[in-house]
Amino acid sequence: MRSHEAGALHGQAGSQGPQWLRAPEDVNQIVPQLWSANVSKIDGELTVAGETARELAAEFGTPLYVVDEDDFRARARAFKEGFAGAEVYYAAKAFLSVATARWVEQEGLNLDVCTGGELAVALRAEFPPARIGLHGNNKSVAELRRALEVGVGRIIVDSVDEIDRLIALAGELGVTANVMVRVTAGVEAHTHEYISTSHEDQKFGFSIADGAAFAAVRRILDGEGLNFLGLHSHIGSQIFVSDGFEVAARRVLRLHEQIARELGVTAPELDLGGGFGIAYTTQDDPRTAADLGRELTKIVADECAALKIDVPQLSIEPGRAIAGPSTFTLYEVGTTKVVGLDGGGSRHYVSVDGGMSDNIRPALYGADYSCTLANRESSAQPVLARVVGKHCESGDIVVKAEFLPADVKAGDLLAVPGTGAYCRSLASNYNHVPRAAVVAVRAGEARVIIRRETEEDLLRLDVE
Ligand code: LLP
Repeated sequence: MRSHEAGALHGQAGSQGPQWLRAPEDVNQIVPQLWSANVSKIDGELTVAGETARELAAEFGTPLYVVDEDDFRARARAFKEGFAGAEVYYAAKAFLSVATARWVEQEGLNLDVCTGGELAVALRAEFPPARIGLHGNNKSVAELRRALEVGVGRIIVDSVDEIDRLIALAGELGVTANVMVRVTAGVEAHTHEYISTSHEDQKFGFSIADGAAFAAVRRILDGEGLNFLGLHSHIGSQIFVSDGFEVAARRVLRLHEQIARELGVTAPELDLGGGFGIAYTTQDDPRTAADLGRELTKIVADECAALKIDVPQLSIEPGRAIAGPSTFTLYEVGTTKVVGLDGGGSRHYVSVDGGMSDNIRPALYGADYSCTLANRESSAQPVLARVVGKHCESGDIVVKAEFLPADVKAGDLLAVPGTGAYCRSLASNYNHVPRAAVVAVRAGEARVIIRRETEEDLLRLDVE
């Protein structure tokens, strides 16, 4: 992830931010490319699809994830249109709720789930099982059984154990399991180590290099009750350049060709996974779905031509690029401090009523975010501020560095864009903080799609 390169947390002096961060001409303005399509500032107040930040905070409380539903839908459509002819699976791990699964279904996308829990939400939304793919490096027998019973369209197998379990289950249930093989293409994706998934030394997939992927396909073809659909490669997440996809696609297609040549089976499909980066800050410069579609389709077509094979049916699995930019998190400021630093200088700390329990990404991946004052205009000077949460950890940082008006104070609202992916889905109850609600806004109407947890919810789990 590029944001990682901005420097170590403690390496940035208080009055001078990371190199990429520029003082704004007008601290009241938002940077449009970081926000969903229907967000704007009206008289200094943040507004999304006709709802103002103050109305949302008053009605639903804070912290609050606010999804611009039309923006989410438009990004889903953009991938479908940009990858015309391919199948698009929305990666539910980025963000999932029953309402979201319905949007995905209505926009004509398929759904990638990676646990029984995600499958349960999809089924609650009456998502057509044939349009669901099931991932996971350690799917339980119960998860596999459920998937086969409801008839999911494809299971992406990740280990020999799993292949053997599926053969047994398919026999027991009298069904055929449609499977893809998750391969590791040995590509170093230039992103954070924890979200890079196609280098060899990690838990996902079958390696192409050591022959494990080929052997897995042979085992599937030899086994009863399995229908081999094709190969699947996901190289990592928050990726901006297509070199990684290109190298991975080449290696996977060569394997595809080898399988056809040596095993006599031409797999009908090829999945290139997700991983398309989004803009969290002005450092990030993501590609459009249309550009990505053109490029990846061409990479595959060129390689197939070189190998003299037919182009397989392509599929992709974007999560972050659909959900991420659609959402901002609204917080209320509680306390502010100006902290003197060693060697002079000072840092403005602005504490909000959430933090690492609603967004673990800064702590986990060193991710950068931005923010804006959301409830009013300010004529105060911009100061470099650090926005922190309410948890008992000094690494509980929401926004490492951002220019905010110097008069930001208790009771103000701050909004952080780009929190639609891997924030609510990674949310925790750390420090017994109830998880925040998710509200979808569309055409001037806001509705809760995941309700706020209460203290009662937390206490209910505690067995005396
Ligand atoms: N397909 C597979 C097989 C995946 O493992 C993933 C993400 C995706 C698709 C979707 O990737 P996306 O388009 O959203 O980048 N929690 C981390 C990201 C973990 C990604 C896990 N797999 C983060 O917050 O950055």
